[in-house]
Amino acid sequence: MSVPLDLPLRRALAERVRFYRELGIYDFYSREPQTFKPAEAVDTAEDQDRPELREEMPARKSAAASRVEDENVFQVLRPEPEPSIMDPVAALNRIREDLGDCTRCKLHKQGRKQIVFGVGNPKADLMFVGEGPGADEDAQGEPFVGRAGQLLNNMIKAMGLRREQVYIANVVKCRPPGNRTPERDECETCSPFLMRQIAVIKPKVIVALGAVAAKNLLAINAPMAELRGRFYDFMPSGVRSGEWQGAKLAVTYHPAFLLRDPRQKGEAWKDLQMVMKYLGLKPPGSG
Ligand code: URA
Repeated sequence: MSVPLDLPLRRALAERVRFYRELGIYDFYSREPQTFKPAEAVDTAEDQDRPELREEMPARKSAAASRVEDENVFQVLRPEPEPSIMDPVAALNRIREDLGDCTRCKLHKQGRKQIVFGVGNPKADLMFVGEGPGADEDAQGEPFVGRAGQLLNNMIKAMGLRREQVYIANVVKCRPPGNRTPERDECETCSPFLMRQIAVIKPKVIVALGAVAAKNLLAINAPMAELRGRFYDFMPSGVRSGEWQGAKLAVTYHPAFLLRDPRQKGEAWKDLQMVMKYLGLKPPGSG
């Protein structure tokens, strides 16, 4: 039997479903309606003092006891996979649309000019992930276009590739003020979009540029010296990936760090050579 839901509850549920969609979760399974004991009977005295439990209870009861089929507000409930398998361009556009004029974290009100989504080949074998846009990127709307970007372009060329052949994105898509390191909540809010980008592009290799990218992608807190020099198996969390078995992930120094300490370029080159070997790439002019 269907129980009509009131509008505020329908909207709240639709909002929750939209949130899951943004994380790349599309499928929802309806449980058979259960008989709930009255809240007073199941709540302990301790629970009564916890507003988060009090808020959850009515929504859970109504949702479980209801079949929702053709309400407009629930369009979003229909399983709607990323169109990634067929068309990565459309899928990336969808992710960009879902981002919208994002206000999900505080970076939106800290001076960003625009969202810097990502750029490059939607079917790239190689993807670079940086930290977050700087002033030049914020002005131009494209990642790695400033001085660090010039160095990244040279690194890409040295690998025997052109910038257009790879995909470049950042952990956060809005410029942190004064180029500060993006904070944990900002990275956590933004990373579902990066995960979806990765799941659409399905690169063979991801290169994490610097510690912020490495730690966010790998969820490991270790110094760069320990993170570099090996491949990790990487599968983006919480997204559908179809037949794709995931990427190899390598960590190297951030180009901005290499501009400050050019002596480390040799070490970065070793990391890139490891990637080149895996992808069967040869430096230009090596025959
Ligand atoms: N540094 C980053 O991490 N990303 C950019 O896009 C530019 C500089």
